Amino acid sequence: MLGRHIESAASTIVSMTRILHRQIGHSYPVATAARGIMIRDSAGKEYIDASGGAAVSCLGHSHPDVLAAMHSQLDQLAYAHTSFFTSQAAEELADELAAHAPQGLNRIFYVSGGSEAVEGALKLARQYFVERGEQQRRFFIARRQSYHGVTLGALAIGGREWQRKQFGPLLIETQHVSPVYEYRGKRADETADAYGARLAEELESKIDELGGENVIAFIAETVVGATLGAVPAVPGYFRRVREICDRHGILLILDEVMCGMGRTGTMHACEQEGTNPDLMAIAKGLGGGYAPIGALLIQEKIFNTLAEGSGAFLHSHTYMGHPLACAAALAVQRVIGRDKLLENVRRQGNYLSRRLNERFGNHPFVGDLRGRGLFQGIEIVSDRGTKVPFDPSYKLYARIKHEAMARGLMVYPMGGTVDGTRGDHVLLAPPFIIDSIGIDAIVERLGEAIDAAVAAQRQ
Ligand SMILES: Cc1ncc(COP(=O)(O)O)c(C=O)c1O
Repeated sequence: MLGRHIESAASTIVSMTRILHRQIGHSYPVATAARGIMIRDSAGKEYIDASGGAAVSCLGHSHPDVLAAMHSQLDQLAYAHTSFFTSQAAEELADELAAHAPQGLNRIFYVSGGSEAVEGALKLARQYFVERGEQQRRFFIARRQSYHGVTLGALAIGGREWQRKQFGPLLIETQHVSPVYEYRGKRADETADAYGARLAEELESKIDELGGENVIAFIAETVVGATLGAVPAVPGYFRRVREICDRHGILLILDEVMCGMGRTGTMHACEQEGTNPDLMAIAKGLGGGYAPIGALLIQEKIFNTLAEGSGAFLHSHTYMGHPLACAAALAVQRVIGRDKLLENVRRQGNYLSRRLNERFGNHPFVGDLRGRGLFQGIEIVSDRGTKVPFDPSYKLYARIKHEAMARGLMVYPMGGTVDGTRGDHVLLAPPFIIDSIGIDAIVERLGEAIDAAVAAQRQ
């Protein structure tokens, strides 16, 4: 049924579009308007944006204060190249970000998205050591089942094997260790603490194998997003990681492109881990989808090394610090602060978790519910007892997305949860402005979509 739908629609779209879309031949509805938590298409159908696109639209759509700030910026200055000028919007946003950053992350490097932020982090980490005379440092250690973006550096450190495979010969050498994935990784006879300690030991063994003096950084998503579906670490894991990095003089880079900027109920997800990184990548919720923008938050010691050394980071982009994007992000962040939206993320996050538990807690095909704040994941299995996933050839995740869209609901499902090939999950990341009525509607529609997708497979 799904295949036929795609096929029949494909002929129209293929002849109509010149865009190399994400899926060639897939028929995408045309988004024409959006307000609050809703997006409307050209046929007049409305969708609840329960995933903020891909955890982007933290304020929902068409927020009047953000639009006003963008209009005002446009009337003054749309663009000025950063090799000639700085701008008030960029300076004010940097002040705002530094004011709410984890301790010491006082310096800001602007980019236009998540992959660029990660790419910048890798290069800045390397340049930091080169300027300190430690040229031999060349390895990054990252985790399997992680996603850090698609540019070659970000792809190399990413742990999605299916995405890396064909580009293998082009990728920098990266070492991968196990993710923290309590649902599948923790042994039955192990406490969460012992599990975290075991994974930290695995990291330390990897460092020893490579020689600590040869490693640049360990990089991880604080809460794993797209690849595992909102999986936080076990308590104490990141504190252990921080100690290990410090012991070997290695940098800790946290990728909070998806889980950061309030999504988990605190401005930065690492606040809940009691750990500060040396570099932190942020993007999606920074500009909330109003403009493409990302940033790298930088520890003072790294900035100072460059300031006292070469005097420049050998890395820049034409659109870095774009005034319109900075004005949009500044307005987004000010609205979040003014309207105390992080409190709403925590309150509605608790409510979402309760409603998901009521609807799916005993569901025969839901193995795990997890996440923090308005960043929650549902792992689908064919057998709750054995945790065996559905046959990957069925592409259950794609069918859930299709069934959800048919019911006017945007969620962010993904396959390959278990090992890059097997497993399905659904990621929810609704806007911070959501209320309980919106959450009730999301849970109801999602329940129907999952039931319909699974039922079709079992016929
Ligand atoms: C954790 C993480 N890092 C990096 C990226 C890449 O961001 P972008 O798609 O903006 O390049 C993503 C995108 O989903 C992400 O989730």
